[in-house]
Amino acid sequence: MDLGLEGARVLVAASSRGLGGATARRFSLEGARVAINGRHSAALEQAAQAIRAETGGEVVPLVGDVANPDDAGRIVAGAVAALGGLDILVTNAGGPPPGSFESVPLDAWQRAFELSVMSAVRLIHAALPYLRQSNRAAILTIASVSVKQPIDNLILSNSVRMGVVGLTKSLANELGPQGIRVNSILPGWTRTERVTELNAARAEREGRTPDEIAAEQTAGTPLRRMGTPEEFANVAVFLCSPAAGYVHGAMIPVDGGSIRATL
Ligand SMILES: NC(=O)c1ccc[n+]([C@@H]2O[C@H](COP(=O)([O-])OP(=O)(O)OC[C@H]3O[C@@H](n4cnc5c(N)ncnc54)[C@H](OP(=O)(O)O)[C@@H]3O)[C@@H](O)[C@H]2O)c1
Repeated sequence: MDLGLEGARVLVAASSRGLGGATARRFSLEGARVAINGRHSAALEQAAQAIRAETGGEVVPLVGDVANPDDAGRIVAGAVAALGGLDILVTNAGGPPPGSFESVPLDAWQRAFELSVMSAVRLIHAALPYLRQSNRAAILTIASVSVKQPIDNLILSNSVRMGVVGLTKSLANELGPQGIRVNSILPGWTRTERVTELNAARAEREGRTPDEIAAEQTAGTPLRRMGTPEEFANVAVFLCSPAAGYVHGAMIPVDGGSIRATL
């Protein structure tokens, strides 16, 4: 299937590795021109080089913290300047820290809101004037299965990501008539670098193997394994492509079936 992404101008936020990184790489493999972002310039430059070397495509690295109110607009402006406009925006950020209601300090709530919700709000706000000029405009937000089914010890993520879902559904209603599609992916356990690092540290602490921990984490997942970043990216890139032209306002789980609810 031709996804219709040749030459598309794409910004993927928080994408020097992990879900965002795999998505940027897949866009580039499909012939899109891609701006990537992260807070650390060396890692970001390395990620851009790796994608360019593999795909021969244009990859623009834009350093910035999407939780910082000034950076979001600057990142979008950098992408627009380098790519000559914008067709597709993928909002993403690091996850808020773990913890229970009683262990998480009060001020962590505001930071989590800035990181998970306001980063998406500000990126979309800055990108809209350019997306309106595109004839294949799409926005994809990244949330989590936790919006359907809370995950233990992730009170911040379980709570504030609901705002991303409300934002996505509301924007679908507001922007659909302007021809801008808006969707969200709800990832389940995916073996990104962060998950691998966290599980390795936990295995060390608990005197177990990372495989034992991963098996425990995915015991309730019908496919009995974590997803790969590439499996996530395939769905992300399809949803943003003209090939998914009538998919709008959808919350698509990429979770190996871990959400057990019927609807
Ligand atoms: N992996 C999973 O199983 C899973 C499941 C559900 C939801 N999620 C959520 O999906 C998102 C991505 O997770 P991941 O596993 O791909 O993480 P990851 O492997 O740690 O990658 C995160 C990427 O985002 C960048 N980043 C982090 N915070 C940023 C910020 N404030 N501004 C700009 N860039 C930032 C990182 O680069 P720098 O550190 O250099 O900035 C890195 O490139 C997170 O919100 C996570 O909670 C993940």
